[in-house]
Amino acid sequence: MAVITGILAAIKAATALVGVGKVSVLPFLIASIAYFHYDQFDPENRPVSVKKVDAEYDFVIVGGGSAGSVLANRLSEISDWKILLLEAGGHETEVTDVPILSLYLHKSRVDWGYRPQPQDSACQAMKDKRCSWTRGKVLGGSSVLNTMLYIRGNRRDYDQWASFGNEGWSFDEVLPYFKKSQDQRNPYLAKDSRHHATGGYLTVQDNPYNTPIGIAYLQAAQEMGYDIRDVNGDQQTGFALFQYTMRRGSRCSTAKAFLRPIRLRKNLHISLWSHVTKVNIDPATRRATGVEFVKDGTIYTVNARKEVILSGGAINSPQLLMLSGIGPRKHLQEVGINVVHDSPGVGQNLQDHIAVGGLTFLIDEPISLLTSRLINSNTAIRYAIKEDGPLASSVGIETVGFISTKYANQSDDWPDMELMMLSTSTSADGGTQVKQAHGLDDEFYKEVFESINYRDQFGMFPMMLRPKSRGLIKLKSKDPMEYPLMYHNYLTDPHDVAVLREGVKASLAVGETTAMKRFGARLHRTLLPNCKHLPPFTDEYWDCAVRQYTLSIYHYSCTAKMGPPSDPYAVVDPQLRVYGVSGLRVIDASIMPTITSGNINAPVIMIGEKGADLIKEYWLTPIQYRRKREARYNETIV
Ligand SMILES: Cc1cc2nc3c(=O)[nH]c(=O)nc-3n(C[C@H](O)[C@H](O)[C@H](O)COP(=O)(O)OP(=O)(O)OC[C@H]3O[C@@H](n4cnc5c(N)ncnc54)[C@H](O)[C@@H]3O)c2cc1C
Ligand SMILES: *[C@@H]1O[C@H](CO)[C@@H](O)[C@H](O)[C@H]1NC(C)=O
Repeated sequence: MAVITGILAAIKAATALVGVGKVSVLPFLIASIAYFHYDQFDPENRPVSVKKVDAEYDFVIVGGGSAGSVLANRLSEISDWKILLLEAGGHETEVTDVPILSLYLHKSRVDWGYRPQPQDSACQAMKDKRCSWTRGKVLGGSSVLNTMLYIRGNRRDYDQWASFGNEGWSFDEVLPYFKKSQDQRNPYLAKDSRHHATGGYLTVQDNPYNTPIGIAYLQAAQEMGYDIRDVNGDQQTGFALFQYTMRRGSRCSTAKAFLRPIRLRKNLHISLWSHVTKVNIDPATRRATGVEFVKDGTIYTVNARKEVILSGGAINSPQLLMLSGIGPRKHLQEVGINVVHDSPGVGQNLQDHIAVGGLTFLIDEPISLLTSRLINSNTAIRYAIKEDGPLASSVGIETVGFISTKYANQSDDWPDMELMMLSTSTSADGGTQVKQAHGLDDEFYKEVFESINYRDQFGMFPMMLRPKSRGLIKLKSKDPMEYPLMYHNYLTDPHDVAVLREGVKASLAVGETTAMKRFGARLHRTLLPNCKHLPPFTDEYWDCAVRQYTLSIYHYSCTAKMGPPSDPYAVVDPQLRVYGVSGLRVIDASIMPTITSGNINAPVIMIGEKGADLIKEYWLTPIQYRRKREARYNETIV
């Protein structure tokens, strides 16, 4: 009986999430997963959303995403602290758990559905020339929608942060925080105890399902003279099979990792569907006293005795700062917001990783990750029972290569290009999920990809690691429910165009190796509509092409950057405290001064871990010892 109820509930959840029209096979798939994995959707497993929020807490955390979930866990370890976590979205579902289904989540109910302003410099092949900025609105945040790639970045990234004046953030100082979270399930990697750890909350495992293509990429790498190594280890340059934030073949979001195990802690309240609209700041003392939020159409105020912590991510945290009067003075006045503190850096310095989408090689062997071939009741049952098989594949992203283009320092181990290598490509699903997730224009898709729908194919995303272009976020109005204006400014710096073009060339070279040729690999050569007038596959052609199918890898960051008091554009200090007011921190992807060289989820979790320790260190230090530090901080408040 319970099983049948469970299956019905699962079907309902699946259709509610992604809509009925899109999901003919999905409900049955989910039903069989639910049947065999009944424990996984038992609602008792999830933290309970409180019915009524108390009037006051010690800490109020805004946003239960990658960083916010970590903070809620670590701060509530102190049993006499009372913590409130406010999250605008609801719970994860059975669909979000299954790696192969992650593309269904784009533009679904768990996505904020942001789209930056249309600009000429990039995303020209997208609907309305606007990129899609997918972003989690759900407990666990973007870690519930992401492709689970676990990459820490390069040691130089953090050493550079420290060199800007951010004491405590060098690689050697942050490495313990990466390890603190980690439960590395690969015993060989775990043996490297300098870089990996076991027993943490966050499960990191190898891909439960590799195709022959994923493995062939490693052979291609060796052919090209690259080493195969642990790219989260001693050196980054080289190739590897990806490591994933998965647990037994299912997504290990930060909600699953950090919140479910502590759901019975009495001193942590979680309130879902709670959209924070403002941080309340006492104008006399310039102290954050709490927040306002909307839940079920009602406005609530809650006070924070100690601190308010913004973990809304790199779009929402700067938006909330500005709504609360902290931001560039002129801009706040334009939209009619009282200026509490003129902080010119809020919403500026936006960085993201972009890649070139659609680079496709056709092959003759039936070995691609073709979902039409691989998603069926057999593979669903295999997934449910054995926790592997095609459904456990993160949409075919199997292999990674970190390489230095000619624009990077060749004698250093600080690559400027990450090749994400897939056992599938844009048109392998016949123009359904990938096209829709990437927001591709119908005409563009038709002209370039339709002729190879459902064919066996593989593709690569060359992703530029350290862009020079900077975007920004502004308020559209003072209405907190209105989405902010987002300007990506991708490829406005010529350096970025050049690096991305070299990344394309490197990807083509991978496709030309004998390792890949043995499958009959050949480039899909249809020219892009806007670039047809240029000599095919020359530098000019690629410089045009990179602006068409420009793919955000959804790593928005750096919009409330951390820096020393001497930097007028720093929004938070190296303790992540907002300059200009007390009792307020930002702890999420926004605080990065520069984006890290790799996918950023693991770094954001590290920021959550370190942020929690900074808070504990501050509040658990007896007051007389704290005074000295405090004095130093007060000097920085203008
Ligand atoms: C589609 C996709 C694929 C990705 N793939 C990878 C990958 O494979 N590997 C990787 O390393 N990284 C990946 N990333 C990036 C990574 O997941 C994010 O950078 C990271 O999760 C950001 O963490 P965060 O804590 O800063 O923000 P988020 O995790 O986005 O959390 C912010 C939370 O705050 C909530 N919130 C926001 N505003 C409010 C408000 N006003 N009131 C209440 N709550 C609010 C949001 O609903 C959300 O839950 C991907 C991201 C996406 C979207
Ligand atoms: C390149 O890297 C090497 C090794 O770290 C370093 O010594 C050198 O200064 C770097 N060169 C430049 C131009 O940054």
